[in-house]
Amino acid sequence: MRILITGSSGQIGTNLALLLEKQGHYVFGVDKRPNTWTNEIETLLQDLSTPYRNFKGGIGHVEYPKNLDIVVHLAAHAKVHELVEQPDRALENITMTYNVLEFCRQNNLPIIFSSSREVYGDIHRYITEESHADFAFTESPYSASKISGEALIYSYAQCYNMKYLVFRFSNVYGRYDNDIERMERVIPLFIRKIKNHEPITVYGESKVLDFTYVDDCVDGIAKGVELLVSGRDANHTINLAFGQGNSLVTMAEFIGEALGIKPNMTVEPARVGEVTHYVANIGKARALLNYDPKTPLKEGIEKSVEWSREWEKSKGK
Ligand SMILES: NC(=O)c1ccc[n+]([C@@H]2O[C@H](COP(=O)([O-])OP(=O)(O)OC[C@H]3O[C@@H](n4cnc5c(N)ncnc54)[C@H](O)[C@@H]3O)[C@@H](O)[C@H]2O)c1
Repeated sequence: MRILITGSSGQIGTNLALLLEKQGHYVFGVDKRPNTWTNEIETLLQDLSTPYRNFKGGIGHVEYPKNLDIVVHLAAHAKVHELVEQPDRALENITMTYNVLEFCRQNNLPIIFSSSREVYGDIHRYITEESHADFAFTESPYSASKISGEALIYSYAQCYNMKYLVFRFSNVYGRYDNDIERMERVIPLFIRKIKNHEPITVYGESKVLDFTYVDDCVDGIAKGVELLVSGRDANHTINLAFGQGNSLVTMAEFIGEALGIKPNMTVEPARVGEVTHYVANIGKARALLNYDPKTPLKEGIEKSVEWSREWEKSKGK
């Protein structure tokens, strides 16, 4: 297959592109930044949030490769709290999705869209299934940008017969996620701080989230790519997570155990705009994609700590 991935220099994009290449597919990446992890992904540098008008054969006046089979749209400003502070970035997310959708429409390509558990808002269900999303519970500008992206996709399916899969991810962690100066993520941040014997702050003592090890996430996306390109099925919205909840305190303790260091932890209230309880019902992913996530949090944390050790060793740190 010939697959275009937007946001290919990010965490999920890098892991997905390398997996698809290993499976023998051709991957063309588009991102506004070069990849800082690997030079094995062909990457076009382009800002996808510009209001473009030309979409035939590429976006703007840039030619993309011919005979693509599918687009996986991952590019976004992906940090909830950052978009509370800079809501203009939520608008950029929507513009990016519009640009990518127009490219797909004008070149007759199916699309996979990276949505988020944030579209559910902070609804405190015991377990959340796909039909529970209701835009009246929009929690933050980031959620609004994902709900808008989904809405655009559903409208393109209605009006232009576009084929899609929407995946709602949840706290993806693991390999290629420790560029925390660019993008602060809680697990690599805690790994670094606990390793350096620095104090950590947990926002939300009773916060329970569904942490997804990145190999499980990209395995699910790759299965979705295969399904959509095969033409066997399309037009589903699917939770892609591990399917179990863990508190942030437990997660921090697992990191401490993996490092052999007791975390020096302070607990503060959850921050504005954050979801405080989410556990995904992943029955639909299992049924449609044969999705079978393999990595519980404790094991995923051990792998993450090991990977960050290896990475730092390879960089001579
Ligand atoms: N990682 C998670 O836990 C998680 C959870 C839910 C949803 N998602 C969604 O999945 C997608 C991928 O997430 P990620 O964790 O890999 O994020 P990431 O920040 O690591 O990757 C996103 C990439 O998009 C690129 N990008 C941003 N603005 C761009 C622009 N204007 N033009 C071109 N490229 C641009 C960034 O440079 C970055 O490389 C995002 O859409 C995110 O919202 C991620």
